[in-house]
Amino acid sequence: MSIVIIRQDDKIELWKEALRAQDPKIEVYGYLEPHDKSAVEVALVWKHPKGTLTDYPNLKYIASSGAGVDFLFEDESLPEDLPITRVVDTMLASDMSEYVIATIFSYLKHLQTYRVDQFHKVWSPKPYYRITDFTVGVMGLGALGKVLADDLVRIGFKTQGWARSEKQIAGAVTFAGEHTFDEFLATSQILVCLLPLTDETTGILNTELFNRLPKGAYVINAARGGHMVDADLIAAVDNNHLSGATLDVFHQEPLPETHPFWAHEKINITPHYASVSDTTSVVPQILENYYRSQKGAPLLHLVSKTKGY
Ligand code: NDP
Ligand code: OXD
Repeated sequence: MSIVIIRQDDKIELWKEALRAQDPKIEVYGYLEPHDKSAVEVALVWKHPKGTLTDYPNLKYIASSGAGVDFLFEDESLPEDLPITRVVDTMLASDMSEYVIATIFSYLKHLQTYRVDQFHKVWSPKPYYRITDFTVGVMGLGALGKVLADDLVRIGFKTQGWARSEKQIAGAVTFAGEHTFDEFLATSQILVCLLPLTDETTGILNTELFNRLPKGAYVINAARGGHMVDADLIAAVDNNHLSGATLDVFHQEPLPETHPFWAHEKINITPHYASVSDTTSVVPQILENYYRSQKGAPLLHLVSKTKGY
């Protein structure tokens, strides 16, 4: 009985060591090293090469080593009958919240604009903004969005959130479902996308949505590149309906050198860095599920295959 780690970056050894540090008896392999594939019961995956999961005839479940699972559903050979788990982690959530809040403050105090001005030797004070001047709208109130909304309330932002189902968040206004989307958007001066990428949410950040935001709104996408229609964002920023955007995620990562986002003065980009699974924090839940699976107990953090997240 063993675990295989399938990912194409340079973090296989890091995850192996972290698993062994917390359970020295665990049998764990990187997918490229020699191992008995029939003995593997768990695949711990992140953006695996498509098709690799079919090499393992006795898998009991698939564990995403991140919060998102969209990359799994993109694999047409994904074994249909296997449960999928994902990461729900307090550090992942607080890291995301810190990233978004840092981005909001940078926008509020014009730090990106002043940085660009500096290169052009331009001295041009902008209107002074404070926390209380802005309503922040959070799309997606799950493991990440809920923590962000709580933190925004605590800091003093007027905070609202939108999800599929009803939520209660002390100090925030919450909206649920498509029929409330207009009302939510109309008052979101800063819009943060923390939705999962599914059939329903692909391309949701488009011209139609931008036009429903107040003039001058600012957009932060820290979820997935597939939520964004890139050309629509550039048009909305260029025609000044939006004041700008910060993007952490892209259709293609790394962002191709020829992409217009690189050189856009009002579009700030970061390299899919908003929050990253920390092995020390996440390994206990990976092991907990491994032990549960051995005992036939229910797994934690199961993904709904019908909802796609
Ligand atoms: P969750 O599954 O916990 O939460 C998703 C939220 O989105 C839920 O509130 C859900 O509503 C809502 N939602 C889903 N579909 C719809 C819809 N069609 N309409 C309205 N609301 C919808 O996800 P997490 O918070 O853990 O993560 C969110 C995403 O963040 C991940 O899927 C991943 O893509 C991204 N991510 C990005 C990172 C980065 O570094 N940039 C790091 C980690 C994650 P309901 O609660 O009603 O089901
Ligand atoms: C995740 C991510 O989904 O890092 O965890 O994007």
